[in-house]
Amino acid sequence: MFFCSKKRKLGYKRSILYIEGYDAMSFIDKEKIAEIRDQADIVEIISNYVTLTPRGKNYFGVCPFHDDNNPSMSVNREKKIYKCFSCGATGTVFKFVMDFENISFVEAIKKVADMVGIPLDIGKMPKEKNHSKLYEIYDLSLKYYVNNINTVSGKKAKDYLHNRGLNDEVIKEFQIGLAINSKDTLTKLLFKKFNKVDIEKSGLVNKSPYGYNDLFYDRIMFPLYDLKGNVIAYSGRIYDREDNSKYFNTWETEIFKKGELLYNYHRAKDIARKENQIIIMEGFMDVIRAYTIGIKNVIATMGTAVTKEQANLIKKMAKEVIICFDGDEAGAKATNSLIDELIEIGVTPKVIRLENDMDPDEYILKDKDAFKNKLKNTMNIMDFKLSYLKQGKNLKNTIDEAKYVNEAIKEVNKINDDILKELTIKKITEETGLDEEMLKSKLKPKAIINNKLKPKPKVKTNKYETAERNLIYYMLRSPEVIKMYNAKVTYMPTKEYRLLAREIKMFFNDNGFINEADLIDFVECDEELLKTISKVEEANLKDEYSLEEIEDYIKMIRDYNVKNETERLTKEMKEELEPLKKALIAQKIIDLKKENNNV
Ligand code: CTP
Ligand code: MN
Repeated sequence: MFFCSKKRKLGYKRSILYIEGYDAMSFIDKEKIAEIRDQADIVEIISNYVTLTPRGKNYFGVCPFHDDNNPSMSVNREKKIYKCFSCGATGTVFKFVMDFENISFVEAIKKVADMVGIPLDIGKMPKEKNHSKLYEIYDLSLKYYVNNINTVSGKKAKDYLHNRGLNDEVIKEFQIGLAINSKDTLTKLLFKKFNKVDIEKSGLVNKSPYGYNDLFYDRIMFPLYDLKGNVIAYSGRIYDREDNSKYFNTWETEIFKKGELLYNYHRAKDIARKENQIIIMEGFMDVIRAYTIGIKNVIATMGTAVTKEQANLIKKMAKEVIICFDGDEAGAKATNSLIDELIEIGVTPKVIRLENDMDPDEYILKDKDAFKNKLKNTMNIMDFKLSYLKQGKNLKNTIDEAKYVNEAIKEVNKINDDILKELTIKKITEETGLDEEMLKSKLKPKAIINNKLKPKPKVKTNKYETAERNLIYYMLRSPEVIKMYNAKVTYMPTKEYRLLAREIKMFFNDNGFINEADLIDFVECDEELLKTISKVEEANLKDEYSLEEIEDYIKMIRDYNVKNETERLTKEMKEELEPLKKALIAQKIIDLKKENNNV
């Protein structure tokens, strides 16, 4: 999540961790974080989530962060870190709880503190968080809209909702309100309490040459929430008049980005986690309808394509992901795209298709038991894909049939599940009478498929990269090595190592010591850095090092940098036409080599 990395840059370099977006600006004492982590037995805490068995010095369990049945995650009590050898997930106890519970870093710290019984005071910063005024504006507007629907002017809107089968309890739960047919009632209310700049930023008012107006009038107001449950926007629906747009949303603002939220996420996430199942629908009316029959592990994408960020959120919510989009063709198309998006990140979803172009709202209203039945009998993605591909084709026509088979094979190649693959090939064989072995020969060899998810095949690292990795390995363990690096290496040639070395340097400069667990918390939100740390740890070198060894690594890195720089300069020199400049570059090259030999 974006505010994590920002937060890291904001603070924690000093002695406290600043927390943006958490109850105004807050902070936790950094020493407190270390104390909580040290008090917490990582084995015991992870055991609350995953069964661990001791093996040697470590404990092993099935990694909850990728689809697996093998115990590829190891937990090391002394080092206070866990690591998955298959997907590379790694971190301290906070990172585990954060990812498992899908909560923020700070919430994870609080949770672990509770578990080990350390009281945790989160201090408040006097300064207000950036967007606090916007949230306040939304709080006020919500009160206003919700109040409206409960007044006489709200009767028609209430009737409309009641007619749609939404009772007062549901209306209250989803904080459904009403923008009355007025030009500027909300605008006036806002101007009493807030300044022009903030009001303009809120996206709730229109600015015209004649002044400010309410953006919404005469619409039923469905609040939209951010992931934490704050109201950050509205979708307004017409209910007793004609209008070109049935729904009309708040403009995107600093706090409202459609691609970052999932409707009902904050209500659904705990239930989804418990039931290990999440249902994805298109519209918020569908979600609200599902609620009325007690199905609460539902979210909505609100009719837009799912972003990478949203797909990853979904992945974290539950293992079983069910796509239940509208029954029309657009819904089928969106289902197809979402399946691909999810497969890409290692999730194999299930699918529900609704007949007669119905959306879940309509379907549930018509026959809720039939809907519940569908939930119990979901389609697998390949059955969906095959029928989706057949649409608009006549399999009796050879050209269509060939097209179908080729497209189907392409889909089979996308998935990761061997059994599902085999079964799908059998189905295509049955449908077309083609030879099964011939079809199988069209499948890509296993290794290429989804190589993003599989542990990367050991790439041959060159000696420079090995030197970088080994040097960092010891930098993570010894201030002496960090100092040597500071003194003698200008920079690491490989980007990921360069970034990690920079963090180690910063950490050491701030704290005067180095320790892997602390460093991991220091970079907590940065997946890339964690991945690099994990890669470095795989080197598994012996604990002791000799100074010669370190100097060798440093020399190798310097040589490599000099070699690259020399090559670059030589090229520049060749391209240079002016003799004087040419000579200058030549001198630079000589100096560079001399300097390197003198270090
Ligand atoms: N949507 C939107 N902006 C629009 C139209 C639709 O944001 N101009 C989103 C809404 O969030 C809505 C979803 O897309 O929840 C699905 O839209 P649609 O299928 O048109 O609405 P329904 O859910 O069928 O709503 P209703 O039953 O009230 O007609
Ligand atoms: Mn509908």
